[in-house]
Amino acid sequence: MEVITTIAGLREELYPRRAHAQIALVPTMGALHAGHLALIEAARTQCELVVISLFVNPTQFGSAADFDCYPRTLERDGQAAEAAGVDYLFAPSTEEVYPAGFQTQVEVADVSRGMEGAARPGHFGAVATICLKLFNIVQPDRAYFGRKDAQQAAVVIRMVHDLDIDVDVRIVPTVRDTDGLALSSRNVHLTQRERQAALALPEALAAGRAAHALGGDPVGAAREALTEAVDVVMDYVDTMRLNGQSLLAGSITVGSTRLIDNVILDPGAQEVF
Ligand code: PAJ
Repeated sequence: MEVITTIAGLREELYPRRAHAQIALVPTMGALHAGHLALIEAARTQCELVVISLFVNPTQFGSAADFDCYPRTLERDGQAAEAAGVDYLFAPSTEEVYPAGFQTQVEVADVSRGMEGAARPGHFGAVATICLKLFNIVQPDRAYFGRKDAQQAAVVIRMVHDLDIDVDVRIVPTVRDTDGLALSSRNVHLTQRERQAALALPEALAAGRAAHALGGDPVGAAREALTEAVDVVMDYVDTMRLNGQSLLAGSITVGSTRLIDNVILDPGAQEVF
């Protein structure tokens, strides 16, 4: 695996290989866990060449404190990416991505509203912008995103469609811990007690899904479960569409950590906790 830090360097590497290989891009902010590795695994089985980007994108954070606290484990990430079969790890500096004078922003209107968009103003504009830049830099045949961040995936899919970007966006199912908590780089901030309390989110979404299967209201059932949960502040529970599927999505805050998760509502879809 090669680690590349400049846009020109990556383009130079990929240019001669493009004609003979399908290129996969897995955008990440590092602190790699099994969720990221599932994206890499899907990319590796479907494409000859796998590029992962590792860039903690400052513009998509609501506060400087949140950005500063984001876990950074570059050395370990390099080892994990190499072991997972990544060909190129693209880890640019902030100056490389946003040189002086940078002022362009992509806005995906409706899909960015509500849920995470309401909780994190400007977040999805920043995510769409960095993803468009990465698509232009790498020009991948396929790009891999996790269903864990379902609204983000919906924003990227909408942008790709609206702007005629020649990339096939693939959505990979959420990877969970054995107890059902969705893996997230933010889970490292949870104390043992908070981690236990955080299980209320997947449990509430499972209750919503069960209510839906019986003809009931999934949003109401999940909200009720979260209202009764201890040490948890509910942010929202709502339904959304992703790739033709109905999802039940929710967010809670435990201590000072905000967590999101979702489940597929459609009958027959696999949701194993
Ligand atoms: P990051 O949080 O590092 O996530 C990178 C990718 O991994 C995203 O597509 C996310 O949905 C996926 N992912 C995270 N946890 C997962 C899990 N438990 N199961 C499956 N997939 C999971 O999302 C971002 O970075 C950034 O917003 C980015 C797209 C890189 C733009 O800066």
